Amino acid sequence: MPSLRLGDLAPDFEQASSDGPIRFHQWLGDSWGVLFSHPADFTPVCTTELGKTARLSEDFAQRNVKAIALSIDPVESHLRWIDDINQTQGTEVRFPIIADADRKVSELYDLIHPNASTTATVRSLFIIDPAKKIRLIITYPASTGRNFDEILRVIDSLQLTDSNSVATPANWKDGDDVVILPSIQDPEVLKQKFPQGFDVVRPYLRYTSLPKRAA
Ligand code: BEZ
Repeated sequence: MPSLRLGDLAPDFEQASSDGPIRFHQWLGDSWGVLFSHPADFTPVCTTELGKTARLSEDFAQRNVKAIALSIDPVESHLRWIDDINQTQGTEVRFPIIADADRKVSELYDLIHPNASTTATVRSLFIIDPAKKIRLIITYPASTGRNFDEILRVIDSLQLTDSNSVATPANWKDGDDVVILPSIQDPEVLKQKFPQGFDVVRPYLRYTSLPKRAA
């Protein structure tokens, strides 16, 4: 099975989870999705990652994003671990953790990298849009916890650039200036799309401002 690439349809699956059986596409509905895998339950980095995701639940909801985690441990282990996460991270995990004991989802999403570990899933994360297309794939080493503020930042960028003829520059965050797509050169189109005006540094490098997302 070739690995997944940006723009591919996120594979659908049915699998057990801490919230009961999940049919992935049906569970996503019209939402964006963040599917993230971690090496194992009851490990320190993963505990902080799931706690952080739970504390950001309002931020995900504001962006119409559902989070779902995965490891190859069974449901009973996930449920005991969720108790620990809630106690140690001062939060309440309300998103499902897929129990991929038979590695069905891990194989579909290429989450076992045998040269890293033959048994544990890698720390990968997929952003999936409402058309079920994969829009971001990142894979981190087991010893490095992900930055979930960065995940929200990418979602902000994707949602903004999907509905405007712009891209977001290095280290952009919501509210910062954006750059106009180089393909937009017609002066009439520019005036119509960017009535607020823009600064031309080079013909291909033009900055403009857009309103911050609504809270
Ligand atoms: C962790 O999640 O803490 C972890 C997992 C595997 C290796 C190292 C750290």
